[in-house]
Amino acid sequence: MHVDRRKFISSVGGAAAVAAMGHEDRAEALEHYMTDQLDQEVKFTGVAQASSEPRIPRGTGNLFRPTTSGFEPMPSKPTVIDFFQRRFAPARHVLQSANQAIQTGQPERTVCACLLHDVTQNLMKGDHGYWGAQLFAPYVDERVSWGIRYHQALRFFPDKETGYEYPEIYTQIFGEDYEPDEYIKKDYEYARNHRYYMEARLVTVNDQYAFDENQREIIVEEFTDIIGRQFKQPREGLGFDNSPVAHMWRSIIDPDRPL
Ligand SMILES: [Fe+2]
Ligand SMILES: [Fe+2]
Repeated sequence: MHVDRRKFISSVGGAAAVAAMGHEDRAEALEHYMTDQLDQEVKFTGVAQASSEPRIPRGTGNLFRPTTSGFEPMPSKPTVIDFFQRRFAPARHVLQSANQAIQTGQPERTVCACLLHDVTQNLMKGDHGYWGAQLFAPYVDERVSWGIRYHQALRFFPDKETGYEYPEIYTQIFGEDYEPDEYIKKDYEYARNHRYYMEARLVTVNDQYAFDENQREIIVEEFTDIIGRQFKQPREGLGFDNSPVAHMWRSIIDPDRPL
């Protein structure tokens, strides 16, 4: 994807705003910008936000942006596929990422991690890896949620053996002096020495190839079988299974609930 540096910088409030942002915030802002650019034509034609309107905090997810169309009703026992169709769509980035994992022969577990790794950005963008890991932990192999958690830190650190290079785009946009936050560095060190390291590394590897505006539309139904084997769908539906994260799913079901 080509990122217009000026457009990106103005989208986050101008050069002064970028200068005031921490490095992790800058990288988050760029990833969200790219993810949104990819989805924009499909999704945001109905969204009204004039420049004179108050600014929405950038860490909040797309579900908390002004919308003219409201939210499509969810079934009473929603599955993760229902969430993809009605809350996360078009989700092109994660669908491309999961497809890339299939094309490169990754295990189903990695395909699942790639498919889920960024969808929590719809709920909360800041620290999305940590939010995502928590949201999915009760339903997936612990290696899947671990990979989702640590992909956020690993993005900033190259690994030649796996072919993961430091994203060129970070250097282009932010310059050579880019420095991740302290907690990101610590989490990277921890993850680097963990036996699950590759679970997160493979998410970042497939992440890089998933910002393609010209790729065919991939639909979540293509992953129905893999989801069936990798995601323990609760009988009561996500949000109603009394799990430690059920409330998070309910917030996604109805972002309009005032309390
Ligand atoms: Fe991410
Ligand atoms: Fe991603």
